[in-house]
Amino acid sequence: MSSVVQLTERINPDWLSQQESLATPHFWSSQQYGDSLAAGHWFYALHEAAETGIAIIMPVAGEAELLNIFIAKDKQSQGLGKALLQGTMHALRLRGISRLLLEVRESNQPAHKLYSSLGFTECGRRKRYYPAGQGEREDAILMEANL
Ligand SMILES: CC(C)(COP(=O)(O)OP(=O)(O)OC[C@H]1O[C@@H](n2cnc3c(N)ncnc32)[C@H](O)[C@@H]1OP(=O)(O)O)[C@@H](O)C(=O)NCCC(=O)NCCS
Repeated sequence: MSSVVQLTERINPDWLSQQESLATPHFWSSQQYGDSLAAGHWFYALHEAAETGIAIIMPVAGEAELLNIFIAKDKQSQGLGKALLQGTMHALRLRGISRLLLEVRESNQPAHKLYSSLGFTECGRRKRYYPAGQGEREDAILMEANL
């Protein structure tokens, strides 16, 4: 499989935050994007559609965590999220990463389906982990996939 993703350092935190805010109510601030970049996390984008979205990876001792992924609102449901995550998993495997972990809101069905379709399985749950508006909380589902 030739790589469909590229590791990119041409990151504009303001632009990413603004784009993500259109895609989900639970978006990172530009400060969070800047901090993630400064921390040396890996930012993957699609080769052919670099402006479409981003997957952010934190490597941890031979394993990795998916910290964030989004596809721009007007580009969703066209297979790009799947291509981005599948390509990122392939790129991580080539870098010697053996397992990818993530957490997702229980209510985020599109993301759940995406992760399940790429072989992620539930491995834990953090009760009432995320704020869900109006004083409510919702669980985080922890998922993992061997690469
Ligand atoms: C989750 C996200 C990245 C998926 O990207 P996408 O490009 O829209 O997804 P794809 O078109 O590649 O679809 C991949 C799979 O996701 C699922 N999916 C995508 N959109 C969906 C929707 N609106 N409802 C239900 N399932 C959906 C489907 O199972 C699909 O596979 P299929 O087409 O083979 O059935 C995108 O919806 C997004 O950016 N959401 C906002 C940010 C977010 O929630 N990120 C995840 C945080 S954990």
